[in-house]
Amino acid sequence: MPSPTIELPKLYEAAADFMPINGTDYVELYVSNAKQAAHYYQTAFGFQPLAFAGLETGLTDRESFVLVQDKIRIVLTAPMYRGSSIGKHVDDHGDGIKVIALWVDDATKAYEEAVKRGAKSYMEPQTEEDSEGKVVRSGIHTYGETVHVFVERKQYKGIFLPGFKAWNPSYRPTTVGLKYVDHMVGNVELGAMNKWVEFYEKVMGFVNILTFDDNDISTEYTALMSKVVSNGNGRIKFPINEPADGVKKSQVEEYLDFYGGAGVQHIAVATDDIVSTVTQLQSRGVDFLKVPTTYYDVLEERVGKIEEDIDSLRDLGILVDRDDEGYLLQIFTKPIQSRPTMFFEIIQRKGAQSFGKGNFKALFEAIEREQELRGTL
Ligand code: FE2
Repeated sequence: MPSPTIELPKLYEAAADFMPINGTDYVELYVSNAKQAAHYYQTAFGFQPLAFAGLETGLTDRESFVLVQDKIRIVLTAPMYRGSSIGKHVDDHGDGIKVIALWVDDATKAYEEAVKRGAKSYMEPQTEEDSEGKVVRSGIHTYGETVHVFVERKQYKGIFLPGFKAWNPSYRPTTVGLKYVDHMVGNVELGAMNKWVEFYEKVMGFVNILTFDDNDISTEYTALMSKVVSNGNGRIKFPINEPADGVKKSQVEEYLDFYGGAGVQHIAVATDDIVSTVTQLQSRGVDFLKVPTTYYDVLEERVGKIEEDIDSLRDLGILVDRDDEGYLLQIFTKPIQSRPTMFFEIIQRKGAQSFGKGNFKALFEAIEREQELRGTL
């Protein structure tokens, strides 16, 4: 079984440039109670209040809170009445990610290029305006009920989007040092991974930069397969997982059962100081997956010398992996809503551009212990 070679810059060159993307613009979750979710993202994760839209701004069917931390923008949207598409989404999936919005220079062209290559339309290009300028948005469907919205904001200087007003509560817990979205992982149905990898290659010009098979990602009981697609500048990286055969139910199958189909499994957010970030997150009540402390007994043997104090990493449960270019530190939260679906990864890269393959086994065994407690293994 070949080990994936990391030569990312070279691989990125193969990406087509018909769809230049500057980065992640925002991530929108449909939730049952946006007001309470906003409080959680402020209190637990240190997101800062940015903008609001709802009854007070003339919106009648929904309410949205926008929160920001450095380059990460999260939108929390809840339905105001029964029978709406947002309410149906929450009923079908629980709280979950509806929109992965991508920041582009030309939302009309991005849409036309994607649709021409076979993408299913979600939103035709539309211009929204207010006194701060105009924004053009368009959108296409991806796996499950998830969509990509292209956001063109070069002629806009407002706080978020037209229709939103500043949200200025006096309650403002500090940030925890989260910087940007590193990658976002999709879980898709058995046998669907290659279809979605091809979708990103064909429709969006992405390249498949890494592949993990069930030899890489398996424990005694369960397995999954994963391929990572990236755009040309490497700012957008989407690993796509599908379940693989195992003796017991894989974590991807558990996700698909509870989410009611394909969807976003985790958002990885980067920090420059994972020890400080995770210390704060834990003190604010964020629960993390823990590996046995024996993991740390052989850590330096496995990854070599690292700058961080191993005792601190052990206390916090932070994992380390190394590739040809350097090392990375990472840790995973438990699911952050009632259903065992979406969670966060906190990651600090010290040269490494990979995804922590050396941690997969310890990590998946930790997930299986949680599945065992839920009776879903
Ligand atoms: Fe990840």
